[in-house]
Amino acid sequence: DGVTVIDHPLVQHKLTLMRKKETSTASFRRLLREISTLLCYEVTRELDLTTMRIETPMEEMDAPILEGKKLVFASILRAGNGLLEGMLDLVPAARVAHIGLYRDHETLQPVEYYFKAPEDLENRLIIVVDPMLATANSASAAMTKLKERGARNIRFLCLLAAPEGIERFRSAHPDIPIFTASIDARLNERGYIVPGLGDAGDRMYG
Ligand code: PRP
Repeated sequence: DGVTVIDHPLVQHKLTLMRKKETSTASFRRLLREISTLLCYEVTRELDLTTMRIETPMEEMDAPILEGKKLVFASILRAGNGLLEGMLDLVPAARVAHIGLYRDHETLQPVEYYFKAPEDLENRLIIVVDPMLATANSASAAMTKLKERGARNIRFLCLLAAPEGIERFRSAHPDIPIFTASIDARLNERGYIVPGLGDAGDRMYG
């Protein structure tokens, strides 16, 4: 139904360490970078391959390479950048979009303060990253903006999602698959994911 939970044991183990309240900012950042390379591996698992004629030191062969134009990673600031770094470790040639959104603490509505994306989004796969899908207001706004700029092939990758957020995201953007390391129990009255890990941006940057 368009939602993939990445249940790889290393992902689950690292996520538990990130959730612990005594985990330091330094450890949290390192774990997020590590976990994001594993999430990147899973979110790119179904990418199409084509072949390229190459020469090994032994002979010629048709060898597999990724098909199509370079990927775009779109980070929802600030916390998306924590996932972005590890993704770029694995796909260093990816193009990058930055989408500045913060959640107004009272209304929980996203406020846009920055948007910069590569020009030619039409023919590329765009993987949008943000550690948290809570009300889904931020992610939905980011998707709408990317679609306005021509994006047609988008995936959303997060670390934690609330069931309420998944439902809202799927009804606003049924064409966009979600990848997450966990679907947590619920949203609390302040729009935080519980049990969650707190505020990802604060835990990364203080
Ligand atoms: C957090 C998080 C998401 C958003 C999720 O960002 O990183 O972007 O909230 O909530 P939502 O699904 O209810 O929209 P925040 O607004 O705290 O900004 P920050 O990353 O700059 O700290």
